[in-house]
Amino acid sequence: MHVLVTGGAGYIGAHTAVELLAAGHQVTIVDNLCNSHAEAIDRIGAISGTTPAFFRMDVRDTPALQAVLQGSGIDAVIHFAGLKAVGESVRLPLAYYDNNVAGSLSLLKAMDAAGVRTFVFSSSATVYGPDAPVPYREDMPLGTASNPYGNSKIMVERMLVDLCRADTRWRAAALRYFNPIGAHPSGLIGEDPQGIPNNLLPFVTQVAIGQREELAIFGGDYETPDGTCIRDYLHVVDLARGHLAALDALTADHDSPAGLRAWNLGTGRGTSVLEIVRTFEAVTGAHVPYRIAPRRDGDLPAFWADPSLAKQELQWRATHTLEDMLRDAWRWQSNNPDGYNSTTHSSH
Ligand SMILES: NC(=O)c1ccc[n+]([C@@H]2O[C@H](COP(=O)([O-])OP(=O)(O)OC[C@H]3O[C@@H](n4cnc5c(N)ncnc54)[C@H](O)[C@@H]3O)[C@@H](O)[C@H]2O)c1
Repeated sequence: MHVLVTGGAGYIGAHTAVELLAAGHQVTIVDNLCNSHAEAIDRIGAISGTTPAFFRMDVRDTPALQAVLQGSGIDAVIHFAGLKAVGESVRLPLAYYDNNVAGSLSLLKAMDAAGVRTFVFSSSATVYGPDAPVPYREDMPLGTASNPYGNSKIMVERMLVDLCRADTRWRAAALRYFNPIGAHPSGLIGEDPQGIPNNLLPFVTQVAIGQREELAIFGGDYETPDGTCIRDYLHVVDLARGHLAALDALTADHDSPAGLRAWNLGTGRGTSVLEIVRTFEAVTGAHVPYRIAPRRDGDLPAFWADPSLAKQELQWRATHTLEDMLRDAWRWQSNNPDGYNSTTHSSH
């Protein structure tokens, strides 16, 4: 299959491109590089032996996308491109609705015009809303998120429901990610946040390598066993493979009912922030000084996935352990202290 990967220079997109190439698919990437580096494309090539075609392009540019899609032999699109910082979305709601909602709309219009109607969307556990009971299940209704980022994911899911209902030629999936961490075992690609990391793991590894003094743990008085927040962390390579399983289900399963299909991609296991820190120290031997900081607005105490639907319908489940995730995150950080700007990457 020939797959267009939007946001393919980013964290999850690059790992998915590698898995697609390993499975024998052809990959084309579009990315505007607003949160990534062109170097990631070369690294995908170094791992895979094939460098994907790359277009530096904004997904809101419908005619340009249509030109890429038209007559290209592209069979399906996996759509990662978007902005993802929850706090920033509260400050810049219009930027988030423009990138994430208008960007998705632009892409779907270009696909429709080019006759490409198989679509996998990067959704998020946040669509269940703050009041949903854990573990989250796909048959629970969409909630109302507490921030524009989450609402942008809900809006795109609703758009896909309506689109699939109106035109049964569409095959679409919303993959609701839990918390991806880790990096490719080669140490060549990984998460490379700009500025102060929003996510826990890059913060942990940057403290461990000495770029930051200490880890701020937001909230130590939640009603959890050790007082810190609990999330469902999964290895980014497992997450990437979930996209291949979803594509297979959408394309192979001709008798499947039309309509948007949704799958949780998580492990089904919750891990606290302190457990992450202690396990990281145990597997890497590095030290992570931390302090308990005030809670962050909008953080939920604990949530994790019920991943049984993906297991049943996609034959997918996460296979990497927490130790694997932390070891791989550390390899990426140590080999690339400044992310893709680093000049040395010793595992070449
Ligand atoms: N990382 C997570 O914890 C997480 C969890 C749930 C959902 N998601 C979703 O998964 C997707 C990928 O996340 P990621 O962690 O790889 O983020 P990322 O920022 O590393 O990757 C996103 C990529 O999209 C590109 N991009 C952004 N806006 C664009 C636009 N308008 N046109 C073209 N390219 C654009 C960026 O340059 C970047 O390379 C996002 O949609 C995100 O919301 C991520």
